[in-house]
Amino acid sequence: MRSEVRQKKTTNTNLLPMKNFDTTTQTVPMEVVTTSKANQFYDDVIAGLKSDPKQLNSKYFYDANGDKLFQDLMNCDEYYPTNCELEIFSEKTADICNAIIGEGDAFDLIELGAGDATKSAYLLQYLLDNQADFTYLPIDISDNVISYLNITLPVTLPGLQITGLNGEYFDMLEKAASISNNRKVVLFLGSNIGNMPADVAADFCRELRNHLSSGDMMLIGFDLKKNPKTVLAAYNDKGGITKRFNLNLLERINRELNADFNISQFDHYPIYDPETGACKSYLVSLADQQVKIGGETIHFAKDEYIYMEISQKFTVAQTDEMAVSAGFKPVNQFFDGKKWFTDVIWVAE
Ligand code: AVI
Repeated sequence: MRSEVRQKKTTNTNLLPMKNFDTTTQTVPMEVVTTSKANQFYDDVIAGLKSDPKQLNSKYFYDANGDKLFQDLMNCDEYYPTNCELEIFSEKTADICNAIIGEGDAFDLIELGAGDATKSAYLLQYLLDNQADFTYLPIDISDNVISYLNITLPVTLPGLQITGLNGEYFDMLEKAASISNNRKVVLFLGSNIGNMPADVAADFCRELRNHLSSGDMMLIGFDLKKNPKTVLAAYNDKGGITKRFNLNLLERINRELNADFNISQFDHYPIYDPETGACKSYLVSLADQQVKIGGETIHFAKDEYIYMEISQKFTVAQTDEMAVSAGFKPVNQFFDGKKWFTDVIWVAE
């Protein structure tokens, strides 16, 4: 979930330009990383395609092509969430920061899946301008992202204290706790939480709470329920970018796992259920066909589907319930002008 890497490039006051991460700066021996990651990818793909119904994990959407397609998606007319959240961060900066600053005690601002920190840069600039006593700790699974932030942010945001943490979220939260006893404020933006099934999202919030102390804060982005046609259009854009974004995972499997998916024999099928708020994407097999993946052969019946992704939409009341059942108290809500998206602040009880 490298949310900010996939932020929309806008013409407004972006403080940090998009860039290409330098893949030559890997510090871990490439072969080890590549082999273990490829094995995990292969195992997950085979297990998903052997299950009934067939499914693939949307976390694998984001190879270099997937990142590029997601950038395109965020720039298309129908995909609204990124612009809504950018509007909140650019227009409600002072209110958000003042809620975070609280009594003015020192704090660590930790960002899960920091990417290029486009949205958080608004907060960082304001916090610096107002002499807040804080250290920024971006966490990202990509060491290129962390190297990039460690190098560039102190230049674009002079005076910023930054300690980038490269690794899994919960491992790095433990590391952050071992570095300082400061109060923690954790950012989890972009409605990435919506890409988790409800039970996984609830467990994730509880796990987050377990890694925090009473008084620590979460700032989480949620995409809200709205006119069903608006939601569905965002996942079924006329230009077909979402379709290519989904099909790219089959292409990635071909490229990386020696498979022979015939991409033209699969179609993108998104649905949105306004009752549950679940927006789901499927790829539907257009023919009875076999696909070879490494040493495995997977059979697809005509019209059989692969479940690709959930993008859950929430009511504000649901976000409150989620907070409470995970051991947080919801204390602030910030909205864009259309009330299509919210960033909420929760305090650990
Ligand atoms: C990253 N995530 C919040 C996006 C979303 O809206 O669920 C991923 C996405 N999938 C299709 N379009 C965008």
